[in-house]
Amino acid sequence: MGKRTDFLYLSEEDMLKAGVLDYARCIDVEEEIFGLLSKDDYRMGGAKYNSHGIAVSFPKESDIPGMPLDAPDRRFLAMPGYLGGRFHIAGMKWYGSNITNPQIGLPRSVLMVMLNNVETGEPVALMSANLVSSVRTGCVPGVGVRHLARKGAEVCACIGAGPVSKACFEAIRIEAKDLKEVLIFDIIKEKAQAFADDVARKYGLKASAADSLEEAVRPADIVSVAASSVRPVNLRNEWLKKGSLVIMTGRCNVDEDYYSSAKIIWDNPKMHDVYYDEHLLLPEDKRFINGIGVQIYRMVYEGKLPALLQQPGLGDVILGTREGRTSDDDRILFIAGGMVIWDLGWSYELLENARRMGLGISLNLWTDPYLA
Ligand SMILES: NC(=O)c1ccc[n+]([C@@H]2O[C@H](COP(=O)([O-])OP(=O)(O)OC[C@H]3O[C@@H](n4cnc5c(N)ncnc54)[C@H](O)[C@@H]3O)[C@@H](O)[C@H]2O)c1
Repeated sequence: MGKRTDFLYLSEEDMLKAGVLDYARCIDVEEEIFGLLSKDDYRMGGAKYNSHGIAVSFPKESDIPGMPLDAPDRRFLAMPGYLGGRFHIAGMKWYGSNITNPQIGLPRSVLMVMLNNVETGEPVALMSANLVSSVRTGCVPGVGVRHLARKGAEVCACIGAGPVSKACFEAIRIEAKDLKEVLIFDIIKEKAQAFADDVARKYGLKASAADSLEEAVRPADIVSVAASSVRPVNLRNEWLKKGSLVIMTGRCNVDEDYYSSAKIIWDNPKMHDVYYDEHLLLPEDKRFINGIGVQIYRMVYEGKLPALLQQPGLGDVILGTREGRTSDDDRILFIAGGMVIWDLGWSYELLENARRMGLGISLNLWTDPYLA
């Protein structure tokens, strides 16, 4: 007789009951994961164990019947990983994305997480992950603010007024305890205004839609960039004041002299080193164009900054092995690129909550595996 395997299925409703929107708890969990990152107690895919994931994309044209065609956000992406420490879990975030989804009442991307037993590979849980992904994306900047923002930071600029920018703000406001004012810039001003109205109503903060990027950024102690690439976000060195923290969750350019004068702290230098290698495989004119932090890659390539693996990660700062902010005047740039291990840790935490609360549906994989 073989071994029976059951796993837990958790719908979005179950995830909500399990506390997926608990930003404060998620910030603590992501902080713990930064420590594991710094100690190398994790694995992602690829030869250097640090690949973000692997995408399936489609051709622009095709004669093959049924072949999907390329379009904005038309892709599938698999992000596998292992997370150590108390989590000791393997798994994968897997999603499909299509910009036309909202027209039929769906989010642009539809995400699931599968968690697996590390020893046997059996599924442990299959869960809806849109909210997992969005909350963990917001909470990584929250950890950044906890460790890198100037104490007493009062003004935050949010660049972009989409769901990711909003998730980032949710976590930033938890950590920026002295926050008084929020300036929001989006190329669609009505979106910025609606976001500002929401912030003012929910949190009683002074919040407004800025007329320009400069207007939002100049007074800001914390600048959170999470805009899409419809139009590039080009920050100027002179706009970024002493003591400011810039958090790049989405793509953004800054004048080169900023990078030489600010402290750069990465989410994970080892992952960016893999991205860097991938850029080197591209033709010269396509290198260092797309991606978060690619301007820094170019400066490394040109010998203007140290190799990525020599640069500090936030996990190193948290564990005290590398320096973070040492003065209220430091200008710090935190690159928050996104990794599956954030999803695995937060999903695992929610699975534990769900088990305690008796949520979800237990599904049977087999009672007696046919091939055992
Ligand atoms: N680091 C991570 O883990 C992670 C995860 C998910 C998404 N992201 C990034 O977050 C970005 C935003 O995601 P979203 O789902 O909120 O996208 P979205 O398209 O729903 O919203 C983006 C907003 O940015 C605005 N915008 C575009 N260009 C701008 C500019 N130059 N200045 C100001 N506003 C501008 C758009 O008008 C829109 O309101 C994505 O493009 C992606 O790069 C990062």
